Amino acid sequence: MSRKPANPWPSLGDGRLIAPSLLACDFARIGQQIDDVVAAGADVLHVDVMDGHFVPNLSMGPGFVKKVRRFTDHVLDVHIMVDDPAYYIERFAEAGADNITFHIEATDRPADLVRRLGELGLGAGITLRPGTPAEQLEPVIGQVDMVLVMTVEPGYGGQEFMEDMLPKIAAIRRRLADHQRLEVDGGINPGTGKLCAEQGADVFVAGENIFNSHDMTTAVGRLRTAVQNI
Ligand code: DX5
Ligand code: ZN
Repeated sequence: MSRKPANPWPSLGDGRLIAPSLLACDFARIGQQIDDVVAAGADVLHVDVMDGHFVPNLSMGPGFVKKVRRFTDHVLDVHIMVDDPAYYIERFAEAGADNITFHIEATDRPADLVRRLGELGLGAGITLRPGTPAEQLEPVIGQVDMVLVMTVEPGYGGQEFMEDMLPKIAAIRRRLADHQRLEVDGGINPGTGKLCAEQGADVFVAGENIFNSHDMTTAVGRLRTAVQNI
């Protein structure tokens, strides 16, 4: 299965979205895991790319995205925790990403990268570490499709949600237009997801909470119920 990558956000409507992080899946049976999590109601699939430099951990690369792209036509939301986003945007676009989110700390020309993602026809996301102030996004916040607020230090799944990120979520929401998405990532479960939704988040990445559950349909449903109608 394959299809032309395109900015996914307009076609996903304006409801709250659940984005399971494949970092937490069982890689020995990833095809089944993808089928199961999509059947469970995943709106998009979140892919965490780590280069061992920007963060002290290694995960998947463009080859992984290419294989997953062949397997599913579900939306691939690729979060690149890398030192050289300009280089990797091209590689992940070729591989079939639909949205690419890069870190503001990793580049001194974020506007060029957002423009490039637009030229490629992809969704453009910008993100920031917990210690980076929201003001640093100012030069590009009006141009992106999505802002991702990290609610843990990037690098590992299964960490504890940082509650002191809630005011940052609210501050960034105030700076966004209605069509711009606000994603949260790290330690998200029904309880922490609800706190984020109350501050204006509308895309919820969850790794361990979904893939480590006994029943993914129940896990996705519980998260969706917690973040809806707020
Ligand atoms: C952390 C990653 C997250 C992570 C979330 O660097 O960006 O997407 O996989 O995992 P959980 O939900 O387990 O905290
Ligand atoms: Zn992520």
